[in-house]
Amino acid sequence: MMNEDLTSEVAQARERLLKQLEQLTDKPAVLRSPDLRALYQRIATLPEDQRGLFGQAVNQLKNELAGLITEHQEAESALPPVDVSAPFALNSEPSRRPGLLSAAMGSRHPISRELELILDIFNGMGFSVVESREIDDDWHMFGALNFPEGHPARDDYDTFMTEQTDTNGKPLIAPAHTSSMQNRVISRYQANLARNEPIAVVIPGRTFRNEDVDARHEHTFYQVEGVYINKGVNIGNLIATLKSFLQSYFANDSLSVKTQPFYFPFTEPSLEFSLSCPFCNQQGCSICSFSGWIELLGCGMIHPNVLKEAGVDPKEYQGFAWGMGVERIIMMKYGIEDIRHFESGKLAFLRQFSAGGDS
Ligand code: DAH
Repeated sequence: MMNEDLTSEVAQARERLLKQLEQLTDKPAVLRSPDLRALYQRIATLPEDQRGLFGQAVNQLKNELAGLITEHQEAESALPPVDVSAPFALNSEPSRRPGLLSAAMGSRHPISRELELILDIFNGMGFSVVESREIDDDWHMFGALNFPEGHPARDDYDTFMTEQTDTNGKPLIAPAHTSSMQNRVISRYQANLARNEPIAVVIPGRTFRNEDVDARHEHTFYQVEGVYINKGVNIGNLIATLKSFLQSYFANDSLSVKTQPFYFPFTEPSLEFSLSCPFCNQQGCSICSFSGWIELLGCGMIHPNVLKEAGVDPKEYQGFAWGMGVERIIMMKYGIEDIRHFESGKLAFLRQFSAGGDS
């Protein structure tokens, strides 16, 4: 017979181990508990006549725990999988299910709605639409756009990198601009030039930057890139194209535009494009910071190296390109003061765009 003290020692350890088992999410970890280890270590310290009995009791306890772990695992795997995205527990009583809003009360998100309008306008001007992508590589983001390796301008793009790498061992990236599509569309539509037709493409896409989020900056936002290539293209064509788009989008023929020199590695010359403030007719208001102008996008004549890289001879062809922030232009159209409203999911904000039962 094992003596009473030792019996109660095992019994107390059992209580503690059962409690641990109950609390642990990783149930098998109980078999590595210091309490169990201490029991095993205790065996060697006992008088010989108690060792065998004590050892048996400890083994029994360990088997009991292992049995409980298996039971738990079997019960878990027998449970039906839970759909965490379901709006209510699918097996709940019908009377306990929350009422869902009718789909007729929903509306399209303002970004989808306005983006469609923007693309329609460009489509009417002869541009095809190619969608951007949400994971890209270093070469399309920078290399193809005349950003030399290690060039400081790369730092302006606050790019999110993934842990996965491309075939060159460079991290895959969440594109920080839709310009990373330029090389693809120029290569893809090159046959147009041989047929004496221009390359005219707009590229909508979601872009990502490691920004400090505030009323004017989001880490995730939309851009519409534009690329136009033909013989004899000049900067006047660029300005006229964008101006005509803006007059159409704002349904206002008296908008004026202004350009200022800027720097992008992929355009030469590069311009920053501003629009006369549509809210105050250039009288000065808080939206345009009392300047009468609102900066809208970056643009310029496509750099010869970008054309060459995509297989187009820059001596024969010229082109222009732009990258426009979609939220920004929608904010200007509707006087929205904070970019964060778009992704906030606030119904009060979204409902303002569902007027007239818009689909
Ligand atoms: N990719 C630039 C940005 O996000 C914007 C831009 C500037 C696009 C000039 C262009 C361009 O196509 O020609 O800051």
